[in-house]
Amino acid sequence: MANMNLKLLVWRQTGPTHAGTMVPYTASDISPDMSFLEMLDVVNEELIKTGEAPINFDSDCREGICGMCSLVVNGVPHGPDRGSTVCQLHMRKFKDGDTITIEPWRAAAFPVQKDLVIDRGALDRLIAAGGYVSVSTGSAPDGNAIPIPRDLAELAMDAAACIGCGACVAACKNASAALFVGAKVSHLALLPQGHSERTGRGHSMVTLMDDLGFGNCSNEGECEAVCPKEISIANIARMRREYIRSVFTGTGK
Ligand code: SF4
Ligand code: FES
Repeated sequence: MANMNLKLLVWRQTGPTHAGTMVPYTASDISPDMSFLEMLDVVNEELIKTGEAPINFDSDCREGICGMCSLVVNGVPHGPDRGSTVCQLHMRKFKDGDTITIEPWRAAAFPVQKDLVIDRGALDRLIAAGGYVSVSTGSAPDGNAIPIPRDLAELAMDAAACIGCGACVAACKNASAALFVGAKVSHLALLPQGHSERTGRGHSMVTLMDDLGFGNCSNEGECEAVCPKEISIANIARMRREYIRSVFTGTGK
């Protein structure tokens, strides 16, 4: 496959309180083997050479495990590949001459800081509200000494695969964080190590989700469709059950 020339429409915004706009760029001589973020690196090198400010975007591991990359590509959080982060998207998915739109996650709880960089601190605050255990769980051999039914362990590990990227929020018409919270609540509710704080967790995290400006879930399923770790919306149903459990055991405040 030959190298490509592409047209980009990129969201540029100089700061959190400034208005943003889509700005056209050209990405020239792009190898189909480049990752999407490498393509943006090439565009930024050209911008720097001409004295223009480079396009700001987040990334860290670039191998699908850290949850930092957060681009809406052609209207889809993380782009056209299912079960993949945008850092693992390759340019061979596009054709020579294509126009590609690139925008940040859009949600009231994720204010844009600059260009494509958003503040995802709201997800950290949700974790601080209950997405943790404070008991000593020992070292790895201790964990292996606790018998856990295989099916529960599998469900817990599937939920624990969440990398906290926030694509689920960006895809949801309600900007709900229900899949993220559902994954965290489920992971901890399914394992005995998570039970010491289980009673209040569902209520604390769901209530804070509302307070932080995330919307409610109306079962659209868009979150599951874009989740790079293919977290199931069954975890949202479990989050609801954990919330009700909190209320009926008297710890819902
Ligand atoms: S549930 Fe999926 S889309 Fe949402 S934060 Fe976790 S990994 Fe990202
Ligand atoms: S940069 Fe780490 S998941 Fe994409």
